[in-house]
Amino acid sequence: MSATRDKWRTAISYGDKHSVVLRGYDLAELVGKVSFAEAFLLLATGELPPPGHAKLLDAMMVSVLDHGIVPSSIVTRYLASAGSPIQAAVAGGVMAFGDTYGGACEQLGEQLAAHVPEIRAGRETQEQAASAIVKHFFSQGRKVPGYGHALHPEGDPRVPRLYRIADANGVTGDYSRLALAMEDALLKVKGRKLPMNQDGALGALGLDMGFDWRLLRALAFMPRSAGLAVHALEEMTREAGWRHVPDEEITYDGPPRRPLGRD
Ligand SMILES: CC(C)(COP(=O)(O)OP(=O)(O)OC[C@H]1O[C@@H](n2cnc3c(N)ncnc32)[C@H](O)[C@@H]1OP(=O)(O)O)[C@@H](O)C(=O)NCCC(=O)NCCS
Repeated sequence: MSATRDKWRTAISYGDKHSVVLRGYDLAELVGKVSFAEAFLLLATGELPPPGHAKLLDAMMVSVLDHGIVPSSIVTRYLASAGSPIQAAVAGGVMAFGDTYGGACEQLGEQLAAHVPEIRAGRETQEQAASAIVKHFFSQGRKVPGYGHALHPEGDPRVPRLYRIADANGVTGDYSRLALAMEDALLKVKGRKLPMNQDGALGALGLDMGFDWRLLRALAFMPRSAGLAVHALEEMTREAGWRHVPDEEITYDGPPRRPLGRD
């Protein structure tokens, strides 16, 4: 391998004897002057965000901080109960964010990111883009990620709250407008209102703030890892350890006992 290919490159940050520098700014100067959300946006987009963006990102991170006993916290608590170190328990819970659970913001975001440039270039109307995205998922026999909610069929109450903050801070943009237009496209096809859910709002607003669509899942698993750490601690300190599935909840439906037939 050539010497150049062996080199590590990063435009994010570096540290030397006297300082740590993030995207050109001295970290010691940032400390106490910018919020965590502002610094995260600086890392993710390369620039300090316009005023108001960090306020929304902070609200988004609070909205996904913890959701009780759900797949990610179950994995974390199993690992903690088995005696794994806290970071392994949290990492396990983070790894539960997959295509079926926790991945809707990225799946929707990829489509929004593909269509918004087409709308901006005048090659597609918003309505055409919205129905193309709905078709894209339906043609694969999939529901449209980021819409519908088992618990809140009338709409997840966190979504209008986030959009109030986004509107007030001038964040709502083309990605959100397209995502909201998809509610109409879904209504046309399904004949029922399927409101944008929390994952959909994370995806659309994340793009409006300048996140790359491939980073959108981090908007969910990054704040949730804080919640998972507390779940790990609670499991270690309050429960008996070695959590396992009770025998009466396990059904074996493989072949019945049979002889090996060998001496
Ligand atoms: C979240 C979800 C599982 C809730 O489902 P639910 O309220 O129990 O609704 P069901 O899966 O029983 O679906 C009821 C009907 O609405 C339709 N529907 C629900 N969500 C839909 C969506 N996102 N896109 C298209 N159709 C949807 C179903 O196809 C079904 O239609 P049918 O009666 O013609 O068969 C479902 O809306 C979904 O899979 N959404 C996409 C994934 C997603 O956003 N996940 C993050 C959740 S926060």
